[in-house]
Amino acid sequence: MHIKIAKDYMEMSKVAADLVESILRKRPGLVLGLATGSTPLGLYKELVQRHKAGLDFSKVTTFNLDEYYGLSPDHPASYHYYMGEHLFEHINVDRARTHIPNGANADAVQECKNYEAKIKAAGGIDLQILGIGNNGHIGFNEPGAPFGGTAGLVDLAEETIEANARFFERQEDVPRQALSMGIKSIMQCAQIVLLANGANKADAIAKAVEGPVTEALPASVLQLHPNCTFIIDEAAAQKLTGV
Ligand code: GLP
Repeated sequence: MHIKIAKDYMEMSKVAADLVESILRKRPGLVLGLATGSTPLGLYKELVQRHKAGLDFSKVTTFNLDEYYGLSPDHPASYHYYMGEHLFEHINVDRARTHIPNGANADAVQECKNYEAKIKAAGGIDLQILGIGNNGHIGFNEPGAPFGGTAGLVDLAEETIEANARFFERQEDVPRQALSMGIKSIMQCAQIVLLANGANKADAIAKAVEGPVTEALPASVLQLHPNCTFIIDEAAAQKLTGV
């Protein structure tokens, strides 16, 4: 695991964008795994600007980590909506090659099976962007999620519902479940970049990087990944002792 510490959110986003850009220039048909939440917004802004300056996404395929279960793609709090608003509508990606689990599919098991099959058919994910929850979750794999898990319907932890309530009108509106790539699906990605900023992520980052590898702290599994980089700001890095 490599750790890159950036001075602040803007620098974190630029360092991440540099990495995505350099990989994309070498591999125009990149299969890119995408995350949502507040953390990658700066990265997406950077990528949009770089697209305006000529960076080409026309051959890129994307897979998002997760989606709220029960929200239709046009719901303003859905991750479908988020991706359109913050990235897809502003770059030249072929929308037919963008994939997000469909949270409106009544058959969640089939939806997840199909999703895993689509990732496989694309040849696997070359580069996966991750954020991290305050409780160490990655995707929507909450503490206790099995390391062997593939995409599935998962229950959200109470602290995740509270943390994500800011994206909804009322806390009661936050879905209680999500469709998420599993830990195993994430570990199969060839390269992983995890982004984190802010003091509220410092505990989760310290445990993920320096704590035991345990299902109680999902991101700790990344210690076992052969090509994983954490790009974090100083606030998120403040509880690391070994750097
Ligand atoms: C959300 C998403 C995760 C994200 C995390 C952190 O619930 N499912 O993919 O990484 O929580 O979100 P934020 O970046 O807003 O702190």
